[in-house]
Amino acid sequence: MKIKSIKLVNFRNRGDYHLDFSDVTILIGPNGIGKTNIVEGIYLIATGRSWRTSRDLEMTEWQKDFSRITLTTQFDDKANILELFWQINEKAIKQLKINGTKHRLIDLLGTVPAVLFSPETLDLLNGAPALRRRFLDIILSQTDRRYALNLLEYHKILRERNKLLAHIKNKKAKFDELEFWDNKLVEIGSQIILKRQELVKFLNKNLSEDYAKISGKKQKLNLKYKASVLVERFADTISAGREREVEQQSTLYGPHRDDFLFILDSREVATFASRGEFRSVILALKCAEILYLEHKVGTKPILLLDDIFSELDADRRKHLASIVSDQQTIITTTDIDHIEKNLRKTAKIVELNL
Ligand SMILES: Nc1ncnc2c1ncn2[C@@H]1O[C@H](COP(=O)(O)OP(=O)(O)O)[C@@H](O)[C@H]1O
Ligand SMILES: [Mg+2]
Repeated sequence: MKIKSIKLVNFRNRGDYHLDFSDVTILIGPNGIGKTNIVEGIYLIATGRSWRTSRDLEMTEWQKDFSRITLTTQFDDKANILELFWQINEKAIKQLKINGTKHRLIDLLGTVPAVLFSPETLDLLNGAPALRRRFLDIILSQTDRRYALNLLEYHKILRERNKLLAHIKNKKAKFDELEFWDNKLVEIGSQIILKRQELVKFLNKNLSEDYAKISGKKQKLNLKYKASVLVERFADTISAGREREVEQQSTLYGPHRDDFLFILDSREVATFASRGEFRSVILALKCAEILYLEHKVGTKPILLLDDIFSELDADRRKHLASIVSDQQTIITTTDIDHIEKNLRKTAKIVELNL
């Protein structure tokens, strides 16, 4: 699967922009010119959301009242036209068309499998747990429609259950009304936890080998899923914790409270590793993510490398460059010297200017 071209209308600082992609496409230009905006447009089609904002309105070019992103893809000999459109009004709901026909947004997931590596990706190691949950959720949503639907449903359940907890605290509802939402929470929440654990298991099969290749050190790299509740004791745990939940008006157990750790030779990476080791760990994680998507979708994902070469030293740059040739890749950089010579030779180089 490849992306052939993108067209942006009123998207960020790209009022009307068209670009054709090669196997490797390098976007060069100074800071603030709009390189990441183009990557964001692709990522939005791939995952349904941006990694930079949760507000679609922000992505519409200032003073404009709609945005449109059109991506043309090729899978074997079948071409697809994916179009995402939203208008600036109170709701700004994204609308999707595939080959001219309206679809639910969820139909987008999996059509353009993509792996993003940007400076923000490095925050995965010591950033907030929500970042790590989102990392798993985005991979699973791209590969498993049921998971994506469950996730939407789970957030709805959480909202309703938290509302009810507040009502109970304010004596506007009774404890036994919780049972209905507890059952749903356990049912959907358990499915989410189990899928995430499966994914972690898959990633773990490859992480050590990838890490060894990148760092040159034979160390065991593993993710350890940290569940806030055991699936088999989910129902018991929440019924035992009800008073506290009512007191705090908040659901305290479930996948929305989970996290995972990076473990290198049985020690937690976030607490001891060097800057360089951090980068090797994340690079290994991205390699494992590529393998997973390929395994599930049956085609190599698009690799999006946004301004990441400047974050890496020579050895790690070389390693990253060596995996680029395996799948279609889009690279942004301010400085062409950061990109391996061999890559530069084969890539389509696009200079961005105002
Ligand atoms: N909604 C928007 N409308 C117009 N311009 C925007 C919008 N959002 C961001 N920008 C502009 O986009 C530019 C940043 O683009 P970006 O892709 O991050 O640059 P870089 O080339 O450094 O990756 C900034 O100049 C910013 O002002
Ligand atoms: Mg940028």
